[in-house]
Amino acid sequence: MDEFKRREFIKLSAISFAGIAMQFSAVSAFALTANGQNGFLGSNPEMNWDAFISKIQALAKTQHVKPWNQSKYLGKVEAIMNKCKFPEFEKVKTAFQEYKNQSPDWFEHELLHQEIDFQISLLQFEKGEYISHHDHPEMCGIINMVTGNALVKNYSIDKLLDKTRTEKYGEKEIKIKSCIIKEVQNEILLPNQTSILTSTESNIHSLMPNKFTQLVDIFTPSYSEESEKGTKWFQVNEKENFEGIPKQFLAEYASID
Ligand SMILES: [Fe+2]
Repeated sequence: MDEFKRREFIKLSAISFAGIAMQFSAVSAFALTANGQNGFLGSNPEMNWDAFISKIQALAKTQHVKPWNQSKYLGKVEAIMNKCKFPEFEKVKTAFQEYKNQSPDWFEHELLHQEIDFQISLLQFEKGEYISHHDHPEMCGIINMVTGNALVKNYSIDKLLDKTRTEKYGEKEIKIKSCIIKEVQNEILLPNQTSILTSTESNIHSLMPNKFTQLVDIFTPSYSEESEKGTKWFQVNEKENFEGIPKQFLAEYASID
């Protein structure tokens, strides 16, 4: 990686992280009051918003019983999401109507529901509002495409490498670590399709919307200050496979130690 790209990587990582952290902080206050404002019916009487939330609440409790099978949990969450007509839920409908592209080059985030066990968000993207490779430490999640489409790539960590280097960012010196990641998913996600990650598999992902795109995601457990700080942003060399091995890529990330 040349000097310019390395500098840009650090800068973008810091900016991206600051951006996402700010958005989550801003919506946290809203989230405190959001929980009591549900209960709007859609045209699907079997799955109104309240029913949806209580089903996810019951499922998300299973995370406290170890060992917890995340894949099984996500499969059940997926089945519930598939029964939802998200655009008909009043919360989602209102967010759609009030949408403004307030953050150029970054998606708009609306926290629909948050409690310690899980959180549900609506993400709205203009075409090309790319989310670069990042992880979700100690979390599992599911993305449900509502409108539009996006290229979604998921990766698992294959190997952490010993080699590190340092980069100067202003007055700070940042340690850059390396790892090998393995591509698990690389597909255009269409409406009603889902993408899943667990804390150990497919936990790193990137997303490129090909047009105006709206999706609902559920992350378990909910974001906390600690998990926000723990999120890593990766610079992935997608131009070539690591040592020629198919689907394997070299990735770098700024150490948070
Ligand atoms: Fe993510």
